[in-house]
Amino acid sequence: MNSLRNNGNSEHDQGDHEELLAAQAHIWNHTFNFINSMSLKCALQLGIPDIIHKHGDNHPMSLHQLVNALPINHEKSQFIPRLMQILTHSVFFRKENIFGEDGYLLTPSSKLLLRDNPLSATPFVMAMLDPLLMDPWHHLSQWFQNSGDVSVTPFSTCHGEGLWELAGVEPRLNRLFNEAMTTDCRLVSKLVIKNCGDIFFGMNSMVDVGGGTGNMAKALADAFPNLKCTVLDLPHVVNGLKNCGTENLVFVGGDMFDAIPPADAVLLKWILHEYHEECVQILKKCREAIPNKNNGGKVIIFYMVMKEEEKHKGNKNGTDHEGLETQLFFDMLMMVVVGGKERNEKEWANIFHEAGFNSYTITPLLSLRSMIEVY
Ligand SMILES: C[S@@+](CC[C@H](N)C(=O)[O-])C[C@H]1O[C@@H](n2cnc3c(N)ncnc32)[C@H](O)[C@@H]1O
Repeated sequence: MNSLRNNGNSEHDQGDHEELLAAQAHIWNHTFNFINSMSLKCALQLGIPDIIHKHGDNHPMSLHQLVNALPINHEKSQFIPRLMQILTHSVFFRKENIFGEDGYLLTPSSKLLLRDNPLSATPFVMAMLDPLLMDPWHHLSQWFQNSGDVSVTPFSTCHGEGLWELAGVEPRLNRLFNEAMTTDCRLVSKLVIKNCGDIFFGMNSMVDVGGGTGNMAKALADAFPNLKCTVLDLPHVVNGLKNCGTENLVFVGGDMFDAIPPADAVLLKWILHEYHEECVQILKKCREAIPNKNNGGKVIIFYMVMKEEEKHKGNKNGTDHEGLETQLFFDMLMMVVVGGKERNEKEWANIFHEAGFNSYTITPLLSLRSMIEVY
């Protein structure tokens, strides 16, 4: 009897221990998640993907060759395998044995980080991991506890002013941010023109609201020479920008909350992260700028449509889990940096309805983002 009871207890204890250890491992993993980001940033600052690329994409670069090519103090060479180990684990590099030595190859993710790749994601990584954008995260709990004014963000709690205001007086932030957006626009415009360019056929004019330095509009203006393209953005972003030889492209400095230049279509890419009321306000301004549906008027939004958590349960290790987690990261990022949010379809539909639009269609376009056409 005693021994049976002991067995029962020890199995129970075993279960408790496993749960305890799994909990500890889970906590450690989350505590040190930032090491993935910081190791990636370090690799980009040292130019590791470019150095391996220069060596030749199909020939693994030996550790020895890599270390010799790196712009580091060579007393620190012994530590490079440690950095490469975590980056190989997170699939930024692939390790192959060459003549008994470790050699490294690029993966699709590190190829997308090459500096001379026009679609390079490096400016995005460097902007998002800059201390100016990282420091606000240390103010998140303070922000939850301070004033109830939701126009104050963790970013402004940290820096004393909002992202756009600070970018207006801090040229380094303005440059970092605009460079980050530029490469994303190249990628999105390439896919949009290839996969759904037909939506621009027969359209006479379009205005890219909050269009940054005009990369999306320039790609569309070049692809559709009969489409008159306008970029509206804050004066500090578009001041001094010219049409770069593209006849059908103009830049306008202004505030989207005041007025939007009239056009057949308004394009909003990575705009509308603001709170509900502000989005409704912006979309009402868009509605004033375009003709009705019968006359070809529409708003074209490139944005995330949040997946529903329930549908993704039970797939903790799959791509869907990573995709959903990335969307949740963006949602938090919007809250912390610009005081906004990511939305599911129902939330988008409410905003469109309140802004006076009658219908919309959603086309999944990019892995995490969709094209929403609103009429
Ligand atoms: C997240 S970025 C997106 C830029 C670009 N559409 C893209 O996807 O790369 C937001 C843009 O909105 C601009 N912006 C912010 N507030 C604005 C306002 N009130 N009026 C016009 N543009 C604004 C910013 O300067 C910035 O270029």
